[in-house]
Amino acid sequence: MTYALPADLVETVQAESRHWLVTGSAGFIGSHLIEQLLRLGQRVTSLDNFATGHRHNLEQVRAAVGEAAWARHRFIEGDIADPAVCARACEGVQVVLHEAALGSVPRSLKDPQTTHQANATGFLNMLVAARDAGAQRFVYAASSSTYGDSPTLPKVEDVIGKPLSPYAVTKYLNELYADVFGRCYGLQTIGLRYFNVFGPRQDPDGAYAAVIPRWIAAMLRGERCTINGDGETSRDFCYIANVVQANLRAGLVTDGAAVNQVYNVAVGDRTTLNQLHAALVTQLQRERPGLQIEGPHYADFRAGDVRHSLADVSKAARLLGYAPTYRVHEGLAEAIGWYVAQVR
Ligand SMILES: NC(=O)c1ccc[n+]([C@@H]2O[C@H](COP(=O)([O-])OP(=O)(O)OC[C@H]3O[C@@H](n4cnc5c(N)ncnc54)[C@H](O)[C@@H]3O)[C@@H](O)[C@H]2O)c1
Repeated sequence: MTYALPADLVETVQAESRHWLVTGSAGFIGSHLIEQLLRLGQRVTSLDNFATGHRHNLEQVRAAVGEAAWARHRFIEGDIADPAVCARACEGVQVVLHEAALGSVPRSLKDPQTTHQANATGFLNMLVAARDAGAQRFVYAASSSTYGDSPTLPKVEDVIGKPLSPYAVTKYLNELYADVFGRCYGLQTIGLRYFNVFGPRQDPDGAYAAVIPRWIAAMLRGERCTINGDGETSRDFCYIANVVQANLRAGLVTDGAAVNQVYNVAVGDRTTLNQLHAALVTQLQRERPGLQIEGPHYADFRAGDVRHSLADVSKAARLLGYAPTYRVHEGLAEAIGWYVAQVR
């Protein structure tokens, strides 16, 4: 993709050719991680079972980085619920970026056991495999859903509430296990609590598509968007470039105080669903002049949803050197063409 990473980070990554493992590499965030790592001269093993990811994401990365860089990538098709698959993937790996999981709060409400299998059992398998392989660092995708019913805004890492969905339970469990693996086995872990990530290669299809691709598809098809609730529900939408930056910084940070911690990864801006709808209308009408878009339809609040989400990102700034380079409008402006191209 076109975004540039901060120069100091590029220099740090390129200083050495390391062996990284990215799980969930056929998915949205994982595919960006392998793309940037390959661009920066790294060796990458990646793993996915295509539960929600797509082969075409891997093909897009291959086309983007070119054959020479792609030759530094080894792909394993497999399920993290199988400990042997995790062990094979971790062989000789220095840094693990663990993204594989079943996302979506509604999916977890409908089928908590399948979510648990991937997100809890699979996560534990990956921790064991990384420990046994002697990996130097285990960075994993945590989630803002861990804040649950805590009303505190902005969200600071050590003030959480009760989880509101099975998905949130699994993501909190990840943090507890990672912490214990640090204490008991000396594994260096870093959890990144992502807040609503968006960008190219985010799946626009299916019942569990995230709000931005779902609304763009609806607007282009002449359908009304549905807002669950009154539209004043708010989120801290975070463009993918910021998330890639946070992962690479977490993978290589050398300050001991930064390790065995969890961090918010977001921008620190609050956007309501009503504001998001309006922003998408503006962006799409710029892209497609004359496009008629109806106002949203308001439905019931959705079970398991957090009402407001806004991150304090100062901990990641202080300990990881994280500094988001894209605010929500900038990310939308960069990604809108990709989203539009997906809708038929
Ligand atoms: N996108 C967001 O806004 C967001 C927010 C918070 C946390 N996260 C977390 O970030 C990570 C990546 O999310 P994403 O948005 O890229 O989702 P995604 O669905 O696009 O990617 C997840 C990938 O994991 C793979 N996977 C799922 N179960 C697997 C299994 N058992 N074995 C092997 N591979 C498996 C899927 O096939 C998919 O390719 C997930 O852990 C998710 O919970 C995402």
